Amino acid sequence: MNASTSLIEQDIDQYLKLHEQKTLLRFITCGSVDDGKSTLIGRLLYEAKALLEDQMATLEADSKKSGTQGDQLDFALLVDGLSAEREQGITIDVAYRFFTTEKRKFIVADTPGHEQYTRNMVTGASTADVAIILVDARRGLLTQTFRHSYLVSLIGIKHVVLAVNKLDMVNYEQEIFERIDQAYRAFAEKLGFSCIQSIPLSALKGDNMTEPSAHTSWYTGPSLMHYLENVDIESASGDAPFRMPVQWVNRPNLDFRGFSGRILGGTLRPGDNVRVLPSGTNSKVARIVSLNGDLESAQHHQSITVTLADEIDVSRGDVLVAASDPCEVSDQFQATLVWMDANEMLPGRPYLVKMGASTVAGTFSTPKYLVDVNTLQHLPGKTLQLNDIAVCNLSLDRPLPFDAYSQNRDMGSFIVIDRITNLTVGAGMLQFALRRAQNVHWQAVEVHKSARGQLNGHKPVLLWLTGLSGTGKSTIANLVEQQLHALGVHTYLLDGDNVRHGLNKDLGFTAADRVENIRRIAEVSRLMVDAGLVVISAFISPFRAERELARSLVEEQEFIEIFVDTPLEVVEQRDPKGLYKKARQGALKNFTGIDSPYEVPLTPDVYIDTTRQSAIDAARQIVACMRERGVLAG
Ligand code: ADX
Repeated sequence: MNASTSLIEQDIDQYLKLHEQKTLLRFITCGSVDDGKSTLIGRLLYEAKALLEDQMATLEADSKKSGTQGDQLDFALLVDGLSAEREQGITIDVAYRFFTTEKRKFIVADTPGHEQYTRNMVTGASTADVAIILVDARRGLLTQTFRHSYLVSLIGIKHVVLAVNKLDMVNYEQEIFERIDQAYRAFAEKLGFSCIQSIPLSALKGDNMTEPSAHTSWYTGPSLMHYLENVDIESASGDAPFRMPVQWVNRPNLDFRGFSGRILGGTLRPGDNVRVLPSGTNSKVARIVSLNGDLESAQHHQSITVTLADEIDVSRGDVLVAASDPCEVSDQFQATLVWMDANEMLPGRPYLVKMGASTVAGTFSTPKYLVDVNTLQHLPGKTLQLNDIAVCNLSLDRPLPFDAYSQNRDMGSFIVIDRITNLTVGAGMLQFALRRAQNVHWQAVEVHKSARGQLNGHKPVLLWLTGLSGTGKSTIANLVEQQLHALGVHTYLLDGDNVRHGLNKDLGFTAADRVENIRRIAEVSRLMVDAGLVVISAFISPFRAERELARSLVEEQEFIEIFVDTPLEVVEQRDPKGLYKKARQGALKNFTGIDSPYEVPLTPDVYIDTTRQSAIDAARQIVACMRERGVLAG
């Protein structure tokens, strides 16, 4: 029985109180099983007495049965046993384990170390204060050591333990340890860690795990457990200026209006001057309310409800900040982006970006460069594949309060959500706001769309024709334009092939280029709608996300999606430009319907089945829809 179990039995209240006061350290272990990672974690749990009796019994039995350590305990079996879920086919990408010692509570994130697991490492490390980078003393620094260290620095972890393991296999030689230590420090110089602690270890034999080892009398530093129990990680976040995104406006009755959220930096006290961003209104903290009564002060990471001295406008997503040290507000940034989805990141595609308590639409630029995680070299690239890391510009559809990630990890990070699947597809860190965002403004104009519409005698609208190549979009669009022209309607027709001769001459047919093609067309269409025209856009526009983008750029009643549907076999038969034949022969790559996808509209405003309708009927159907919508009088 250890000290804490006896305290549980004697005085549970005292035990809980002790626990409450202990600080929590989150750390991540980076390395592969070959480096002894499982053994290291297993021994930490064992030495912290974090194992339950039944786990100990199983470990002893398993060690005898299938262990690799003779009569000794095989700690690697323990960790593998703890992650038995993996064997059951449930993918747990990051395993979190909890243990505690007399001094501190710990959460260790264990992530697979292979290259394709960048995503998992970034997830596991995102809240960690310390990273243990494991090196096999026999093998020294490896490519994976550089990769792990880069990712750890990217996440903003400042404290690194270089765990030089398996020292028993090299006779505990000081020289070997020192050579590895020096080489690592030389490499890590550019990564900006504030503290690197190298420790000579044998996780298997227990050297320097909790107690200083007699085998390494030349080493005067701390044991691993001693380091983890004592490393100071509190000061940085505590000194930061106050930040709290408002998660919820708490208004149970007319007399109380509190703003609830979690403090993401600094300390707050009643009487403090705060500013609400993005609006910029100032006020004073009246009360800090908690379930156990009002608080004298609240710290970083605490969840609280604040009331303010003045009746000012505050809504969910706003951020309360120290009035004397506010953060910036911007809608354009340079950011580091980590891509976590099998579908590539396409520049210009609208994604949802979640920052703090706000979720807004955002797009990324073509990467400025991708980072080779093994060599840290900058590489060119147009899109991001799964596990790619790149520096891009991020543009949001409204300004949000933020801090640079290097200043405040919580206030400077974001996740990216796919608008269609709702899955998290990326994560990123804000580097800085682009200056141009501050220097480009909206200019007020006096003549508005409605005034132009009155002069025209009809409302503007965007008719968006989508469908495979060769379905007759251009023919139908032409007929619609002729009919409208005859009615005296001001029109303009934007057609796939034509626009690709000028404005979009530089674009091909990769997914990224099609996204950019449609983005530009959608923007041009928006301007033309604003000019008061009936715009007819006829493009394959194969992706839902970009058709939705086009819809979002104009007002709801101004967008009519027209799906010109012809089965692939039929268009292939018709093959008016001979392109399907070329594509089938492999002479034309990325051809829609053959080796590039077409995402069928789920709820088009007008559906045209070209196997049953003539082009002229289709054109009439579209004009009729415009009349129904009230775009055309009569
Ligand atoms: S989109 O996918 O980006 O919307 P867009 O409508 O501009 O395509 O252009 C389609 C036209 O380009 C087709 O009608 C066809 O004439 C021509 N084209 C040439 N190569 C391809 C290709 N690989 N895939 C589809 N269309 C192609």
